Amino acid sequence: MGSFRRSYYNMFSKVYDRIIELHSHDPQGRLRRALADRTGLKPGDKSLDICTGTGAVPPVLAKKVGNKGLVVGLDFSKGMLQKASKKISTNSLENIVLVQGEAQHLPFKAGIFSAVTCSHAFYELKGEIREEALMEIRRVCQSKGRFCMMEHEVPKKRVIRFLFYIRMLVAGGLRSRAFLSQETDLFRNHFSEVKKDILPGGNTKVICGTIE
Ligand SMILES: C[S@@+](CC[C@H](N)C(=O)[O-])C[C@H]1O[C@@H](n2cnc3c(N)ncnc32)[C@H](O)[C@@H]1O
Repeated sequence: MGSFRRSYYNMFSKVYDRIIELHSHDPQGRLRRALADRTGLKPGDKSLDICTGTGAVPPVLAKKVGNKGLVVGLDFSKGMLQKASKKISTNSLENIVLVQGEAQHLPFKAGIFSAVTCSHAFYELKGEIREEALMEIRRVCQSKGRFCMMEHEVPKKRVIRFLFYIRMLVAGGLRSRAFLSQETDLFRNHFSEVKKDILPGGNTKVICGTIE
């Protein structure tokens, strides 16, 4: 499934980190830490980062779970995972493993993760895939485990907002706009204690929910 999308991300992987460096306004990784802080992860826990890309989030989660814990970074793009793998071996991070797979068909047993994260990717999943991914996240998480997702907040500047909607439409399909306006309600269909925080700076949000 999605071989065109996969090829697109394989090509994108070659310039992804450079583009993020130029546009993220997060050189110190403050936003990723804010995501990790909301997971409730403790030393020894197992954690999953879906759509992990070039591996920006796993090192931050790895600090939370420590040497006795484990972080799995999952992505369907080989190109992205190659970049992630380089980053992880350069920094000698031994409690991170990378797995090639799809967010909507997670290759893991039920109830093994204490938390699942997804950074800047959830809106790029097409509507039906997003729904399947949410069910898979619930399946692989322990009871009282958390799902925390980080995304851009709808931009205030008109031109940037227009480009944001184009990205959502192209990547996520026609139902993305509806998803955006009802995102917290839709999360409540799958999780309890759903909470949305706008991070300092106002451009990024984190939505977290707890698995019953
Ligand atoms: C915009 S990047 C975000 C990467 C990373 N999470 C970050 O914050 O930098 C989106 C990532 O989602 C991955 N992706 C898209 N659809 C996917 C799917 N159905 N299953 C697994 N990975 C997927 C892409 O390969 C890409 O690496």
